Amino acid sequence: MTERLEDIAIAMVAEGQGILAADESTGTIKKRFDSIGVESTEDARRDYREMLFRAEEAMKNYISGVILFEETLFQKAADGTPLVDLIKAAGAVPGIKVDKGAQALSGTSIEKITEGLDGLRDRLAKYYEAGARFAKWRAVITISDATPSHNSIHANAHALARYAALCQEAGIVPIVEPEVLMDGEHSTHGIERCEMVTEWALKEQFQELYYAGVNLEGMVLKPNMIVPGQKSGSKASIEEVAERTVRVLKNCVPASVPGIAFLSGGQSDEEATAHLSAMNAMYDMPWKLTYSYGRALQAAALKAWGGKTENVAAAQRAFAHRAKMNGMAALGTWQADLEKAA
Ligand code: 13P
Repeated sequence: MTERLEDIAIAMVAEGQGILAADESTGTIKKRFDSIGVESTEDARRDYREMLFRAEEAMKNYISGVILFEETLFQKAADGTPLVDLIKAAGAVPGIKVDKGAQALSGTSIEKITEGLDGLRDRLAKYYEAGARFAKWRAVITISDATPSHNSIHANAHALARYAALCQEAGIVPIVEPEVLMDGEHSTHGIERCEMVTEWALKEQFQELYYAGVNLEGMVLKPNMIVPGQKSGSKASIEEVAERTVRVLKNCVPASVPGIAFLSGGQSDEEATAHLSAMNAMYDMPWKLTYSYGRALQAAALKAWGGKTENVAAAQRAFAHRAKMNGMAALGTWQADLEKAA
């Protein structure tokens, strides 16, 4: 029996749980491994991800789904068990990053368009066969004095909508991720600018999803939070980030969308947790609000692991702690002193 898209989407944003983004491309995972002095071989990538997926406390209690890079979807654990089976055994839904990355958008020097639509229908059938029940496509929107252009907002929203429609046709729930980047050099990139640009991108996104006939009950939105640009020199309180983020989402995201799972985007582990918890504690919202973090779920575990078998248990404990903190944030019950207690 094929599962309903709506049921998969609801499982992906289950109460007090969220998504582990472990879909770093070969280039990105190399950068992460460089930071701990480990060579990025196929086996090292497997060992690292196997360590995460076998972290029972974290996976069973706080992780509803895992986004994989294509290599991992077809990879086997050291004992021969497919990694996908480890994820399913922990009660989480396996997912797959299907975009082929952000490339230069013609006519602009800094903006990007995400590629990967050609042949996607056939790839999705293969991914479904391998066990994937949701997918991810990430678009990036760059803030500068002169950008974003309408062309980049529109072209990326259109590609995301075409991707989402193809996923649903294949029985796969699309995670729609139009990310307004928080890095960037520009002094004008304060929190107001982030709010304005994110609202624009999301308005365009839901318009395109409507034109493409996407069933909103069978998708998950993965947006950025509303934060000041990292190099803008300005700071915002947790309450301000929560207030602005919830306002933009309420203005743009129909109540039929079951859940919104944020990216961490370069926020510190604790900031990403504190912001999410504040939103859930302070506001009533029509959708589940949770996490789909990459860096903010993995950074501590990656460091504790350091590429050594003898560190696996410590790395799994670090992952469990971060996952638990975020699980509480998804319920709005996280407190800063819980970090110190650990
Ligand atoms: P970060 O949480 O590290 O931003 O990664 C999430 C993700 O999947 C970006 O596409």
